[in-house]
Amino acid sequence: MWSIDQRCFPPGIAYPRRELAAYIQHRGSFTVVAERAGEKPSVAGFIVAEASRRGVGHIITIDVLPASRRGGLGSQLLVAAEERLRHVPCHTVVLETAVDNTSALGFYKRHHYSVVKVVPRYYSTGVDAFVLEKQIEGPLPASTGP
Ligand SMILES: CC(C)(COP(=O)(O)OP(=O)(O)OC[C@H]1O[C@@H](n2cnc3c(N)ncnc32)[C@H](O)[C@@H]1OP(=O)(O)O)[C@@H](O)C(=O)NCCC(=O)NCCS
Repeated sequence: MWSIDQRCFPPGIAYPRRELAAYIQHRGSFTVVAERAGEKPSVAGFIVAEASRRGVGHIITIDVLPASRRGGLGSQLLVAAEERLRHVPCHTVVLETAVDNTSALGFYKRHHYSVVKVVPRYYSTGVDAFVLEKQIEGPLPASTGP
């Protein structure tokens, strides 16, 4: 998963191996992995999320390998994580993404996330982050798929 993360994010935004491992092992966190079927099944993407006691879920990272993008895999991972957080129960999901990550912003907009604030110089590269949020209480919106 660390090597996938390295391929999905630029240096300085991708997680150092130990940090990603710590998030995956953190109490309250979970990881959903998507496998590519075939003779030699391999991991095509994953999502790491955690639930706080305050009912707030946090998407730590979502990574889909370039060759597997725009086929609905990211959406399936995100919906699976939201469902699991909803059952904790969490009422809100938050996440951070780089302000210049246009594909992620398009993806999260499609999934009804809204920008709630900007964190200046959030990443070690000096890039700012948007904090995005979505309420997950109540029935799902009619269209969450791609
Ligand atoms: C963001 C990411 C997880 C999306 O995964 P994906 O499997 O391509 O997503 P989906 O196929 O489910 O896309 C669903 C919808 O999101 C939007 N979307 C996805 N990629 C997009 C892009 N590059 N530009 C604009 N909108 C995009 C589209 O509305 C898309 O629907 P469509 O393909 O019918 O137009 C993937 O691009 C990725 O891993 N990026 C690198 C890591 C990253 O930036 N993670 C998010 C920040 S934490």
